Amino acid sequence: MRLIIRDDAEATSAYVAKYIVDRIKAFNPSPHNPFVLGLPTGSSPLGVYRVLVEKFKAGEISFENVVTFNMDEYVGIPRDHPQSYHSFMWKNFFSHVNIHPSNVHILNGNAPNLEAECIAYEDAIKSVGGIDLFLAGIGEDGHIAFNEPGSSLSSRTRVKTLAYDTILANSRFFDNDVNKVPRMALTVGVQTVLEAREVVSIIIGQRKALALQRCIEQGVNHMWTLSSLQLHPHPMIVADEDATLELQVKTVKYFKSIEKVALEQGFEQILPSKVRTGNGIVPRTKVDEVSSPTILAPQPTTSRLLRATPATEYPVRSVSPDLVPDRMASRIPEPNLSQRLTPNPEQQSLQQNYTISA
Ligand code: GLP
Repeated sequence: MRLIIRDDAEATSAYVAKYIVDRIKAFNPSPHNPFVLGLPTGSSPLGVYRVLVEKFKAGEISFENVVTFNMDEYVGIPRDHPQSYHSFMWKNFFSHVNIHPSNVHILNGNAPNLEAECIAYEDAIKSVGGIDLFLAGIGEDGHIAFNEPGSSLSSRTRVKTLAYDTILANSRFFDNDVNKVPRMALTVGVQTVLEAREVVSIIIGQRKALALQRCIEQGVNHMWTLSSLQLHPHPMIVADEDATLELQVKTVKYFKSIEKVALEQGFEQILPSKVRTGNGIVPRTKVDEVSSPTILAPQPTTSRLLRATPATEYPVRSVSPDLVPDRMASRIPEPNLSQRLTPNPEQQSLQQNYTISA
């Protein structure tokens, strides 16, 4: 887990936007090998979209060969409702950049068959080779996308009933009237997010501080679904100072020191190795032979050790059925078995002496 902390919302958004731009450029997408970007809604990513639009207008980045998948959408409000996530995305991002409308994917919360819509969405993600980078926000209750507390950590795109806390929090977008907030949504699952090659979560403000603390300092827990990122091989959380208020000082200091040491070593941000960033066939190369470029080189050893495989190949779901449990005893040569298994070495030597003298 990487936790990057910036002073305020603006600096946090700028960091995430630059990271996304750097990642797309390093990928060098083409029409046949597009960069696949997962995107969130909410107030947290607004600053990121603003900077991305600025960078596009300044000619620093093109979205020509970028394919997007949004995380979620309300069920039952018209697509052109001002608070639908379709409206949000076109208003705040898509209509300001050169993305092809046919490359934009947002779940249809008015589909005649919602379950079929969700299955088709997962298929569409697979058909483009999976998501390269999933950007996420979180809810105050630690939800990622609309995976509310108690969601299965193996969940996939599905219909979800919203938690009361979420309805209450999102009522600020519906004239502060909880009755106007939809009760259901379509959302990618926790597993869908975990299968992205990289996950970046932006967390801003004191009201997210408890959720961040639960997700960083405590264990993986379905009641705080962002904590599932602990199972991902390449997750990053970018938070502002206010969001860290519930973290222990030593936690904050530790994550800040990681970034400081990295800067001192001459690299700002480790990128996944090039072979991890593409969706082509992963070459069968020995770990140490993998050339792993970074934006600001040199390449630290740790990144090479991440191995050149996409996240989808990590066994994050369950124990593979062909995994045979390793029995330590099977490694011990037969003749010395009784001696080696003696727990107390003194007792062991006494026993040996006794055997010799007997
Ligand atoms: C909604 C979205 C989430 C988002 C959350 C946070 O619940 N489904 O994906 O992370 O809002 O919103 P905000 O950033 O406005 O706090």
